[in-house]
Amino acid sequence: MWKKNPVLFLVLALAAIMVGPIVTMVAPFATVNTEADRMACVKPYTALELAGHDIGWCEAAAEAAEEPKAGTNPFKPDPATMKAGKALYREHCSGCHGSDLSGSIGPDIRDIGIEDADLFTLIYGGIADSGMPGFSRLGSKRIWKVVTFVNNR
Ligand code: HEC
Repeated sequence: MWKKNPVLFLVLALAAIMVGPIVTMVAPFATVNTEADRMACVKPYTALELAGHDIGWCEAAAEAAEEPKAGTNPFKPDPATMKAGKALYREHCSGCHGSDLSGSIGPDIRDIGIEDADLFTLIYGGIADSGMPGFSRLGSKRIWKVVTFVNNR
């Protein structure tokens, strides 16, 4: 049969060969860049960002862009804030100050006696030329939660 119909053979052979590339190269497009994959908060870069300014993780960057809200702590030590503050502390501070704040690389900060506004400034900007980094990238809200946790636990 194939001897009599080489063109049909060629077409069928090509079709058979194309199955592989279609499955491996085309099919994945159905599962990437779906609605669920897209991040709602991502916006196009501004001219400043394109010029090389820090492009942070979108939400944190938006918050951090605000001036540090030194002054009044907007949070009360309610259970939700304390829980959030503790989680943030665990993630960002415990590596240096220990999970119970008693210190390791960094000093013991269990009873520092630094009031909220000053503690905010310290965490936001860090301590220059020391091992204490600044955390402005977390944004004001998260920093206030850490402050609330450290001073009320
Ligand atoms: C990379 C390690 C490191 C991380 C992470 C870190 N710290 Fe520190 N921290 C230090 C060091 C080191 C010092 C001491 C700096 C100095 O005065 O020489 C310090 C100092 C401090 C002080 C001042 C203590 C005092 O007695 O004056 C506070 C308060 C503090 N850190 C809080 C935090 C909080 C809250 C976080 C998390 C948001 C954090 N630190 C994350 C290393 C760290």
